[in-house]
Amino acid sequence: FSLKPYNTFGVDANAEYFVEANSVDELTAALQYAQSQNLPVLFLGGGSNILLTKDFEGVAIQLNLKGISEKILNENEISVTAKSGENWHEFVLYCLNKNYGGLENLSLIPGNVGTSPMQNIGAYGTEIKDVFTECKVLNRKTFEIEVFDLAKCSFGYRDSIFKQEGKDKYVILEVSFKLTTQNHLIKTEYGAIKTELNNLGIENPTIQDVSKAVINIRQSKLPDPKKMGNAGSFFKNPTIPLQQFEKLQQQFENIQGYPNGDSVKVPAGWLIEQCGWKGKQIGNVASHQLQALVIVNATGNATGKEIFDFSTMIIDSVKEKFGIELEREVNIL
Ligand code: EPU
Repeated sequence: FSLKPYNTFGVDANAEYFVEANSVDELTAALQYAQSQNLPVLFLGGGSNILLTKDFEGVAIQLNLKGISEKILNENEISVTAKSGENWHEFVLYCLNKNYGGLENLSLIPGNVGTSPMQNIGAYGTEIKDVFTECKVLNRKTFEIEVFDLAKCSFGYRDSIFKQEGKDKYVILEVSFKLTTQNHLIKTEYGAIKTELNNLGIENPTIQDVSKAVINIRQSKLPDPKKMGNAGSFFKNPTIPLQQFEKLQQQFENIQGYPNGDSVKVPAGWLIEQCGWKGKQIGNVASHQLQALVIVNATGNATGKEIFDFSTMIIDSVKEKFGIELEREVNIL
């Protein structure tokens, strides 16, 4: 069964079995089947953060649970819950349509609601941890449903319990967010948003305006996976000790960094560009010409292995020039 339509890189890898789970019962049945046959399981949400480097000898499960529900909390806040198979951006638009605030900075992020807590998706000054309240998960061992609140998820930069000690133990079924119904908190600190709102001539932005600005920025430099296969940022932005950063500053005066206590987060896109990778293509794979941090399936014919090898070359050259080891953000299978 070809997984090509189920990963945004558009890589053609096969799975031995494929199941579309439309309910918790179907999901449980698929998991029990895999268990009884001793087969590994691969979960596919939106497929926007995975690189398939080989065929999968097991059961691929496409989580397709749908539905959105709401509960008014007080005159200013509402709890909105979406099932894991809801498309993330459509969910954001649903909320904006109803004038619920909190998710607008996260407009146009590819993927589904169910995978958003995995890596604590974030962009333009917001991470889902800022509005997340809880998620319901299926325990893959006991088959019981458990609730994970904010603290239990241990969210960090592109990180959560689901990538650490909870890895492969749970399936996220639905996610709840606390959103505002009035007195919205407008977050425009991120430089690019301010600039874009200025360009649009908007002085007192609404949450819908912020969303529009974010959409414009993303569309201007991030390739649309439907047109050119990619998985967004391929690497995390590395955090290095302040001391190391200051040394690098002496050597590379243009180096950028966002200080945080005694460490500094350095934009990986800048490091990669400095190594000459921006827009460079080898075979079927390239670093995107407008955002070096994004690796693209340039011809549509790249294999996962080719993309992986390309990323290794980038890691090696950044390591050589800056002494910084980039870490992949995309899950490699
Ligand atoms: N930069 C370069 N060259 C490049 C790309 C970036 O010099 O080719 C510099 C830019 O000039 C800028 C800085 O790097 O000063 C940061 O760039 P940008 O604002 O595009 O953000 P980013 O750090 O590259 C992160 C997230 C994105 C998110 C944006 C906006 C990570 C790994 N990536 O990218 O998330 O949309 O910030 O908040 O943290 C994703 O995770 O898939 C993703 C797209």
